[in-house]
Amino acid sequence: MTVRTLKLKDLSLTARDGIPLVRGVDLTVTAGRVTALVGASGSGKSLTCLALQGMVPSGVVRHGGRVLLDSHCVEATALRGRQLATVMQAPRSAFNPLLTMADHARETLAVRGIKAGEAQAQIDAVLVEVGLSRDVLTRYAFQLSGGMLQRMMIALALLSEAPFLIADEPTTDLDLVLQSRILALIEHLTHERGLGVLFVTHDMGVVARIADDVAVMHAGQIVERGTVHALFDAPQSVPGQALVAAHLSLYEEPTVDTPHYASESCV
Ligand SMILES: Nc1ncnc2c1ncn2[C@@H]1O[C@H](COP(=O)(O)OP(=O)(O)OP(=O)(O)O)[C@@H](O)[C@H]1O
Ligand SMILES: [Mg+2]
Repeated sequence: MTVRTLKLKDLSLTARDGIPLVRGVDLTVTAGRVTALVGASGSGKSLTCLALQGMVPSGVVRHGGRVLLDSHCVEATALRGRQLATVMQAPRSAFNPLLTMADHARETLAVRGIKAGEAQAQIDAVLVEVGLSRDVLTRYAFQLSGGMLQRMMIALALLSEAPFLIADEPTTDLDLVLQSRILALIEHLTHERGLGVLFVTHDMGVVARIADDVAVMHAGQIVERGTVHALFDAPQSVPGQALVAAHLSLYEEPTVDTPHYASESCV
């Protein structure tokens, strides 16, 4: 049976000295929908994404945070590769420095039981989808730019065919054309293949474009959640209001009156 939801329940994280970093976070990622996780820098978005994959960095202590596929409790570390694909904020650290991109791609396909001949055809197809040439396959992570590594992570996520994707600022290092192409690809996979996406971003324009649901994080807590329309129409929390206001102030028409030089020159 197809899995419909990936849930994180009551996650708290502290620093080793007990300082709270993430507090009582519940999140649901739903098949066929994009859930955006937004909030100020340092509010706990990346730590939450890492905990959802069963990985907390050294110096961080986990308290609770059950992970459920539909209503079944699962070991978060067992999800990666099969049920959950990830594109992380710092792509370089996600690659094994001793493996080429071809090795990474083959490893990802091996999890699905796909070998040699068929593997190459699938790898070629996803490279086209993310706008990379075949040359990258012989390279190591240190030989690629940040944007190329982000695209390679997306290519690996596609190859895994996992039903859920966590994308932590997946397009930050990409130029606008590529950014738009990757967003279109994620939209396509969500609506055509029923992928469930948790998409972390600071860019409210991106939220408006691809998100169905939004969760606003502030100081380690989810302070608002709802549909993307509800957030933009009437944000309920102060951080939600600040995000929407900042977005509108960047993109609304300037309201400054322009002087009428023409009438002056007629005198
Ligand atoms: N390994 C660590 N040890 C201790 N504290 C950490 C560690 N990693 C992150 N933190 C702290 O946890 C908090 C949340 O960090 P996190 O990286 O989740 O923020 P974020 O919302 O993803 O920010 P950004 O938008 O800048 O990526 C921050 O205060 C950060 O300093
Ligand atoms: Mg982050």
